[in-house]
Amino acid sequence: MNKVKTSFFCQNCGTQHAKWQGQCNSCKEWNTLSEEVIEKSTKKVWKSSQKIYEAIKPLKIDKIDIKQELRINTGDQELDRVLGGGIIPGALMLLGGEPGIGKSTLLLQIAMRINAKVLYVSGEESQRQIKIRSNRINESSNDCYILSETKTQNIFSQIETLNPDLVIIDSVQTLNTDNIENSPGSISQIKECTAEFIRFAKESHVPVFLVGHITKDGQIAGPKILEHMVDVVLHFEGDRNHIYRILRTKKNRYGATSEIGIYEMQSHGLSAVNNPSELLISEKDEKLSGHAIAATIEGVRPLMIEIQALVSSAVYGTPQRTSTGYNTKRLNMLLAVLEKRAGFTLGSKDVFINITGGISIDDPAIDLAVIVSILSSYHDIEVSEKYCFAAEIGLSGEIRPVPKVEQRIQEAAKLGYESVFISKFSKIDTQNLLVKVIPISKIQDLVSHLFG
Ligand code: TYD
Ligand code: MG
Repeated sequence: MNKVKTSFFCQNCGTQHAKWQGQCNSCKEWNTLSEEVIEKSTKKVWKSSQKIYEAIKPLKIDKIDIKQELRINTGDQELDRVLGGGIIPGALMLLGGEPGIGKSTLLLQIAMRINAKVLYVSGEESQRQIKIRSNRINESSNDCYILSETKTQNIFSQIETLNPDLVIIDSVQTLNTDNIENSPGSISQIKECTAEFIRFAKESHVPVFLVGHITKDGQIAGPKILEHMVDVVLHFEGDRNHIYRILRTKKNRYGATSEIGIYEMQSHGLSAVNNPSELLISEKDEKLSGHAIAATIEGVRPLMIEIQALVSSAVYGTPQRTSTGYNTKRLNMLLAVLEKRAGFTLGSKDVFINITGGISIDDPAIDLAVIVSILSSYHDIEVSEKYCFAAEIGLSGEIRPVPKVEQRIQEAAKLGYESVFISKFSKIDTQNLLVKVIPISKIQDLVSHLFG
């Protein structure tokens, strides 16, 4: 009898180890190794039966034909933009996101909207369930086929008969292949199934969307190398309790990774948000302290977001510092700067920061607005809602310039803001601007300007 070959795979990062050990050599996580069979059968996975391909040989770069690389329009402006202008034939795209965020809804919407024959394979939902969802999102299509299947061999045989122009797999964690004996969702199954779909996509030039679940810490579950294998990695994120969803590119072999798409999850599916700046600002009846507007840039789009802060006396010994949508370490740094460089004693105060709309922002240009909202709450003096802020704060309390400041100012002007506070060191021409620009260099200048 043949001995079955096994190996130990880290369930966190996918690294293979020859024997069991408590800690993974690569990612240093504990107790993540599990034994999986690695013997492969010789069964063929994807037969290119209908199409005959030329043997691949080296070509001069100027002789390579890129006619077939014309992009396919998905019928969804946001997704098209995020992908860099549409889907490239033969691309393998991975869409990750937390459960319930709307991955299946987004892809079903695309499947129904796109002007092409689509095979939507679900390993999680039945055909009936998907039909009910399609009724809910109120789309109709006569060229969208639904298959409830998890075995890759069966999926490929259906693909051969149907000959679709786009394949959607929901999700990669439910797939399993006969070539490997592990249970679905194990590292080697995910890796092998993905590899089979890559082979299929590259040979047939049919683009494939794979849905991937993500783990607690925001990584796509399965080996990290999955992200290296595919052409495009998209992340669908947002707060499940809010209606806004952001589609972000983590990797794109065919375009920029800086683009984002913004959607609203409504009762009849996802709809694109065309002017996000207006929506992300909360409406208030009266003026309140602790609010400030930041002019941020997400991808290449300027976006106005609202920062809310609450500063109150700490009841317990250690004051709390909590932030939603903003990096807590950065908040602690800003508080230290305020204490040391500007003389505010916040050491005995609880500080809470929230970015409205349930979105997270990494852009350091919102630092200034965070500080303004904290000081506004601290002094209990409101900041005019016609002001917005775009600057970074340095460790010595200096107000630093940020990239693309003109774009931020233009967006502020377009949306009717009166004044934009920026760093004095920003290199811009303030002549023909439609909005008042207030250059500042130190936190003290800001305080005297806003709170007198
Ligand atoms: P779903 O696409 O199933 O999420 P995922 O595939 O990422 O797990 O989305 C599920 C959530 O979206 C669910 O909580 C219900 C909500 N939803 C709407 O609010 N409106 C809709 O039209 C649809 C189809 C779902
Ligand atoms: Mg789903």
